[in-house]
Amino acid sequence: MQKLRLGVLGSGAGSNMQSICDAIADGSLDAEIAIVMSDVKDAKILDRARAAGLPAMWLDCSPWKTKLEGPGEDECIRLLREYGCDTVVLAGFMRIVKPKLLQAFPWRVLNIHPALLPSFPGTAGWRQALDYGCKVAGVTVHFVDSGTDTGPIIIQRSVPVMEDDTPETLHARIQVQEHAAYPEALRLLAAGRLSVEGRRVRIAPVPE
Ligand code: GRF
Repeated sequence: MQKLRLGVLGSGAGSNMQSICDAIADGSLDAEIAIVMSDVKDAKILDRARAAGLPAMWLDCSPWKTKLEGPGEDECIRLLREYGCDTVVLAGFMRIVKPKLLQAFPWRVLNIHPALLPSFPGTAGWRQALDYGCKVAGVTVHFVDSGTDTGPIIIQRSVPVMEDDTPETLHARIQVQEHAAYPEALRLLAAGRLSVEGRRVRIAPVPE
């Protein structure tokens, strides 16, 4: 067992960060959130982090809009190291992370994606699934590699798509599963039960 020191990156509401915080608080996840960073100055994730007494920083990612590269990336890596992070948790972070960050934390960068990958990578996976006419949608927690939503899959959970679903109702149903899946994936990581073999993530059995 290894107590994880998490650096969380997000751009939005921060409900996944909150679910991780709650799992730590109720003792079901052996981790601590060392720092929360956002590329959006007034993102709710930063308010939630401050309310929980966590260090919360705005990360200036200019001049780029969709990727974390250059000075913003360097500052992010510097802060992750300064705060002693061993694991990077992307929780609604709306930028592509580049090899420099991935190489600084090999197989220690995780992401949550609101679709059953490899279907519907990119933005608003729930809307893509609904528009496609899927009867089942879901969530994926995966290690991040240099592609977009292509890294080895740790956990997936499915939800039904209902006849009267809107993008909002489907996303809400997916988010309920997200809030269980992310802490679960981190529990497996903390327990040292995950290993990456090619495209597959092996989950070792619970030690006797
Ligand atoms: C989630 O649906 C997540 O899967 C996606 O972005 C959303 C973030 O939600 N990557 P929140 O900021 O954690 O509430």
